[in-house]
Amino acid sequence: MMRHDAWNHCWVRTLVTIGGKAMSDTKILLEERQMPHQWYNIIPDLPEKLSPPLDPATQTPLTPDKLEAIFPKSLIAQEMSPTRWIDIPEDILKIYSLWRPTPLYRAKRLEQYLDTPAEIYYKNEAVSPAGSHKPNTAIAQAYFNKLEGIKRIATETGAGQWGSALALACNYFNIACRVYMVRVSYDQKPYRKILMKVWGAEVIPSPSNLTEAGRRILAKDPDSPGSLGVAISEAVNDTVVNQPTTKYSLGSVLNHVCMHQTVIGLECQKQLEKINRYPDIVIGCCGGGSNLAGISFPYIHDRISKRKKVRVIAVEPQSCPSLTRGPYTYDYGDSACLTPLMLMYTVGHDFIPPKIHAGGLRYHGVSPLVSLLHKTGFIEAVAYHQTEIFEAASIFAKTEGILPAPETAHAIKCAIDEAKKAKEEKKKKVILFNFSGHGHFDLSSYEAYLAGKLEDYEYPQDKIEEALRHLPKIKVA
Ligand SMILES: Cc1ncc(COP(=O)(O)O)c(C=O)c1O
Repeated sequence: MMRHDAWNHCWVRTLVTIGGKAMSDTKILLEERQMPHQWYNIIPDLPEKLSPPLDPATQTPLTPDKLEAIFPKSLIAQEMSPTRWIDIPEDILKIYSLWRPTPLYRAKRLEQYLDTPAEIYYKNEAVSPAGSHKPNTAIAQAYFNKLEGIKRIATETGAGQWGSALALACNYFNIACRVYMVRVSYDQKPYRKILMKVWGAEVIPSPSNLTEAGRRILAKDPDSPGSLGVAISEAVNDTVVNQPTTKYSLGSVLNHVCMHQTVIGLECQKQLEKINRYPDIVIGCCGGGSNLAGISFPYIHDRISKRKKVRVIAVEPQSCPSLTRGPYTYDYGDSACLTPLMLMYTVGHDFIPPKIHAGGLRYHGVSPLVSLLHKTGFIEAVAYHQTEIFEAASIFAKTEGILPAPETAHAIKCAIDEAKKAKEEKKKKVILFNFSGHGHFDLSSYEAYLAGKLEDYEYPQDKIEEALRHLPKIKVA
């Protein structure tokens, strides 16, 4: 062995065995062949029957054919499927393998900083090409649309993560893509739209003059910052006008979207099993609920089928507190009342949340699956202000090195709080959270934070109450 090789060898050995203790548990990796080959559908395992979506015109249970105007048949079948495990087609697995399985990290430097007895693990979904968990469903949705001959997809995006994920997916399957981007994010995050355009998508700030729904909002408020609810109305409007070659695609909320994201939790289970750990707490930020569903549903399955004790926590912004302060009731998924009514926690479909930087969490409702699991005690919920989540994000960036998306920072803040509690209680807990995305396109938000310009928006009680007054009056059984 040459001298410097021997030195390198010795140096590597020192690194991996500091103090005689194996250091191989910082990154817990899986082989490509260990990627899940099936998605987990939680519908057959729910503690209560899921209430059906209602037709917005008649307020009676929606039949699958009514959804065909906006979704391909195969995704409608998944949305209502009673089958627990659904095969992931080979063509989707091939694209997933560009970044999956994603690494699971142990946040050792964060643990040291907090001086906690807890072990903190995070699943890094930021390694996807678009920088978040969103491609897990974007690829699947584009694939099933392609199979049914769809030429164009319309969608909305908040922070731009979903829009870029769908732009990437449509690019792979040669489908045209139009993205209605919430105006406040369009202005706050100029580089996300460039990424979408590079992947071939057309990006329109919403509300726009291009749709009936957008024009109606602009007539009321020409300076409207927009919201996910408004952008969804525009994308649905666009789809209905341009059917049958255009379909609509949603990046969260729906059952099939939550199911596509379960690859996250299924991988975590294998990764933690590899190091002989099981989480006491699983945490995800919650906008529409898909990344939380993705990391937690396989664990909720364990809780239901194997009586495992695991707490699941949804984290949302104080300025859009659907789970923590909204009622559980039927509401529309969009502002113009074009979508089916869903039974969920909501702050009202015409509530326009304050302009916080976590644009992906500015949605009035939460997935009916996550909502039902919250109502039945399987998912807890907490809410934070934006300055405290940016503080948590900075601690994470300084200790672990990666800059989180503001949405992801909500999960980090909760993980930090739980690790501090473990210290107070002197308990060695295992905390797992979903690192849903990086913040490389969110630098203007960090700039505002560093300049002390971020404001905490108080819960606008009067505005929410006003929005709740417009809820459809449907009796919940
Ligand atoms: C990085 C990131 N995390 C989380 C979310 C919230 O969405 P969901 O609740 O569907 O995971 C978004 C939404 O845009 C996002 O971009």
